[in-house]
Amino acid sequence: MLILFLANRKVCWAGNYILTESGEKVQVDDPSILERLRTDPIEYIEDMKMFLSQRKYEARFKGNVWVVTLKGGLKAVFKPCESADFLDDAYPEIAAYEASLHLGFPIIPPTVIRKIKGKIGSLQLYVKPSVDLLSSNNFETLLKKINNIDLVNLKLFYFIFGQWDSNAGNLIAQYQKDEDENPILVAIDNWAIMKRQQVQLGERPFLEVYHNEKLVSPNDRQDKFPFESVQTIKHPTVESIEKTFGKVLPSLTVENLIQGDNPLQYVLYQCTLWRQWPFSDERLILQRKDKIPPSSLKKLRGLNAEVLKRIFQEAKHCDFFNHAYIESILDRVNQVLSYTER
Ligand SMILES: Nc1ncnc2c1ncn2[C@@H]1O[C@H](COP(=O)(O)OP(=O)(O)OP(=O)(O)O)[C@@H](O)[C@H]1O
Ligand SMILES: [Mg+2]
Repeated sequence: MLILFLANRKVCWAGNYILTESGEKVQVDDPSILERLRTDPIEYIEDMKMFLSQRKYEARFKGNVWVVTLKGGLKAVFKPCESADFLDDAYPEIAAYEASLHLGFPIIPPTVIRKIKGKIGSLQLYVKPSVDLLSSNNFETLLKKINNIDLVNLKLFYFIFGQWDSNAGNLIAQYQKDEDENPILVAIDNWAIMKRQQVQLGERPFLEVYHNEKLVSPNDRQDKFPFESVQTIKHPTVESIEKTFGKVLPSLTVENLIQGDNPLQYVLYQCTLWRQWPFSDERLILQRKDKIPPSSLKKLRGLNAEVLKRIFQEAKHCDFFNHAYIESILDRVNQVLSYTER
């Protein structure tokens, strides 16, 4: 009986591991780490930008991010939500972690919800980077060294769960054996999976930007999302956007549509403006030619609405988590399966 119990525990903990700031080896599915993140008293809090610059790492991110040191020495990353009434930014991080445990990939650090200094947010185990992926050509070098199965599995997760905010800044590289070989990639910052999107395998997703009854279009008569009806504003400016959509879009939305000199590619469908997101790293987009490991396909076949409800258990009260959201994940599962089973 005891042997059976220990054997089960072994199976249960046989997942991927990561190294913490102090070099402690942590299994990603070890429940005691989740418990420590939830309950260990807070020793002190530092601003992530300061923390990174002290270690001579590039800091390129927009959010409110803190490094928390827990009593006992564990470090974790706290991302407080703007308001306690809207926690939709934090729960996707938990769901992404749960999804990674269910699939067995990619590696996502243990993540919990915690209230710190009166703010609620996600608290994720800090993973010590071995190299700064944002400086010089470290990311290119890493992509050459990474095991292809790990890379395909990462891209597969990104596609299925709709993580479009994919770039070197949202990955941590770790050489766990103190050598230059066999690095692992740890996927952080997964809040973006909450966003409504329309995507075809191998392409960039269209993200929901704005819904308004005035944004009617002939496309609305179509049953399916009209991927073929992409429109382009080559040099988006406030004037060209207003000329195209009238004064329907709020000014902040208009501002967000103008990013550098990137053309604006969009589709109008069901009174909604959908923008094709140009910033996901091309090398992290799942391609039809990518060979998906049979064990990953098996995992995909096991995904259904019930399983997804378990993965998103903690997010079940969030606005984004509804029937259409579940269906869109299952649609992407079908895209992969029907392509590979042809
Ligand atoms: N679990 C972690 N372990 C180690 N470093 C982390 C972790 N989470 C975040 N970081 C560091 O903090 C930075 C900012 O975190 P993150 O990308 O989650 O914030 P964000 O504000 O949501 O980003 P963005 O501007 O991309 O939306 C990361 O680029 C990374 O350097
Ligand atoms: Mg980020």
